[in-house]
Amino acid sequence: MTTRPEPRPGVMQIEAYVPGKSVVAGVSKIYKLSSNETPLGPSPRAVQALRSADHLELYPDGSARKLREAIAAKYGLDPNRIVCGTGSDELLSLVTHAYVGPGDEGVFTAHGFLVYRIAILAAGGAPVAAQERHHRADVDAILAKVTPRTKIVFLANPNNPTGTYLPFDEVKRLHAGLPPHVLLVLDAAYAEYVRRNDYASGLELVATAENVVMTRTFSKIYGLANLRLGWMVAPHHVIDAVERIRGPFNVNGPAMAAGIAAIQDESHVAEAVAHNDRWLTWLTRELEALGLSVTPSVGNFLLVHFAGEPGRTAKEADSFLSARGLILRRVDAYGLPGALRLTVGGEEANRLVVEALRDFQGGAKAHA
Ligand SMILES: Cc1ncc(COP(=O)(O)O)c(C=O)c1O
Repeated sequence: MTTRPEPRPGVMQIEAYVPGKSVVAGVSKIYKLSSNETPLGPSPRAVQALRSADHLELYPDGSARKLREAIAAKYGLDPNRIVCGTGSDELLSLVTHAYVGPGDEGVFTAHGFLVYRIAILAAGGAPVAAQERHHRADVDAILAKVTPRTKIVFLANPNNPTGTYLPFDEVKRLHAGLPPHVLLVLDAAYAEYVRRNDYASGLELVATAENVVMTRTFSKIYGLANLRLGWMVAPHHVIDAVERIRGPFNVNGPAMAAGIAAIQDESHVAEAVAHNDRWLTWLTRELEALGLSVTPSVGNFLLVHFAGEPGRTAKEADSFLSARGLILRRVDAYGLPGALRLTVGGEEANRLVVEALRDFQGGAKAHA
């Protein structure tokens, strides 16, 4: 007999998600490059819409109709196949809870976004990680992990924290290899940043298959992370299931108003893409010139690998950078203890990171 309430099996196996740091003791000027936020901030039109929000005493439209219509208009979708959420995190969790229970398995990739493992365990299922190749999802490895117990497969494309992506042909091959009872969740949180002609977020697959859903977010290129806003598009029967367990007013009105304005401001998105293109390329080149290895990224962040010897580890680099107010993300929890994840920042931050890492690498060489 237990003497106090016990959480369901699986819950205590969860390592709670640790968000990127935003403060360093004793350092006043901080450059937060740890959460893949945009250095451009949100569209001024979104800020204006947020400021104009009133009637805070009234419940919001629980169906998020206007926001769904704005998203549908932008992507040519049926608004009835969209559900909005408190960030895409909520939708990842809802969809998992709708399809995964005790005795079921959910598959994701070895260095995949951590929320998948958490959602599967929280739903009482068993998390199953598929090996990656060169920090990239491996379709054959994922398919090899699928069993009759598998209910859900997550693919972040591009993936966080690696920044790598699967060409659409590979995504289609993954889908073709899955049994029809398995739900394929394409998490396209960084889709807007990708500039590769063999990439597609997968909307076409969602439109034509009965077992594919896609999640998207306003937290990244739209710069609205603080408002917590995301959406998913899915076949009707999946929408029906998720709608039954969704909180009735899960998205707040000011966030919806800002989201509508943001998605309509195409020039702000174009500016963010251009900024990212320029600085992703620059950072990759500069960091490689310092002797660091960088996983080729199509997102708004880079995985930077450090040598393992004393004085040159990722942990030491992190302390060194933090002391200068440059906060990157440790990725030990992703099975990458030798790397740091760097979000593409504004020009000043990017230059400071390279300067600091030049000093770190130089100092480390002197130390060696
Ligand atoms: C791959 C991926 N998916 C989903 C999210 C969650 O985004 P949000 O809940 O802010 O929409 C993130 C955020 O870091 C992410 O990197």
